[in-house]
Parts: sequence; structure tokens; C-alpha cells
Amino acid sequence: MSQSTLGIVKPDAVKAGSLGAIVKRLEAGDLTVVGLKMIHLTRELAQGFYRVHRNRPFFDSLTAFMSEGPCVVMVLQGENAIDRWRALLGATDPAQAGEGTIRKDFGQNIERNAAHGSDSPESADFEIAYFFNALELTG
Ligand code: RTP
Ligand code: MG
Repeated sequence: MSQSTLGIVKPDAVKAGSLGAIVKRLEAGDLTVVGLKMIHLTRELAQGFYRVHRNRPFFDSLTAFMSEGPCVVMVLQGENAIDRWRALLGATDPAQAGEGTIRKDFGQNIERNAAHGSDSPESADFEIAYFFNALELTG
């Protein structure tokens, strides 16, 4: 079943100049970009995006990180796109991520881990609508 998922190249990876390399990975993984923009999140936008984590100890640090510089948000489409994108990302902690995964190769630590992917169809719907309207999506 074709699915859509939200990807983010996080501020650490944009700053490091890894945007192109990460996009190359997802294209090589047969995911199609149907929407993409660069945005410097405010603290409030980062808090709203990660509100499911509002009671976690890392929430303040995470939302500071996500608003420290520009990130690139994108909508990816393909068969089973949610799980396939998360497989390309690897584990949350780059130290635990498999060889050849994006987080292993571009992440710094469990927080500054280079990229994001939606974890379910419900979160993909919420996350895509958080950043894109229908006119901004080509698929
Ligand atoms: P994401 O939502 O960014 O794709 O990552 P994920 O599903 O693999 O991990 P999640 O549990 O949703 O955590 C969201 C982001 O919070 C940061 N984090 N820091 N310090 C910590 O223990 C910790 N744990 C998570 C990471 O940036 C993680 O991607
Ligand atoms: Mg998550």
C-alpha cells in the first residue's frame, strides 16, 4: 500500500552540510519526495510538533535543539513508506543504529540524530498537516 510519511533533516545535519547526502539515501531507497521546504522552527512550533513528548525529561533540550537552526521538512511517498523510511534512519541512538543507516552515518548522539520519521499512519497524518497544505504537495 502506498503511504506518505513526514521526514525531517534536523538542524544538526543541515548545519553539517549533510542535506544532499540524506536526500540521496531516500531516493536510492525508492522513496519519492512529494513536498519539501526549509524552515527555521520557533520554540513554540517545535513544542507543538513534539507535544507527544511534552512530559519526557528530554523535551526542553529536544525543542531547543529543533529550533536552533533551519531544518528541512519533507513528505515522502512509496510502498510502506513509514517503516521503510524508519529503516533507512536506523535506531534513535546513532550508537545503536545499524551499519549504513542515516543516523549511524550522520547522527552525533541520541538527541542530535540527523533526521526524523513518522512512527505510524496517525502520526504521519498529524505531522504532514502540521507543515504542509494540499497545494504544497504534488502527490
Ligand atoms: P523521531 O521522532 O525524531 O523520528 O525519533 P524516534 O521516533 O526514533 O524517537 P522518539 O522517541 O520519538 O524521540 C524523538 C526525538 O527526541 C530526541 N530524544 N532524545 N535524550 C534522550 O534520551 C532522547 N531520546 C529521544 C531524539 O532527537 C529523538 O529523535
Ligand atoms: Mg518519534
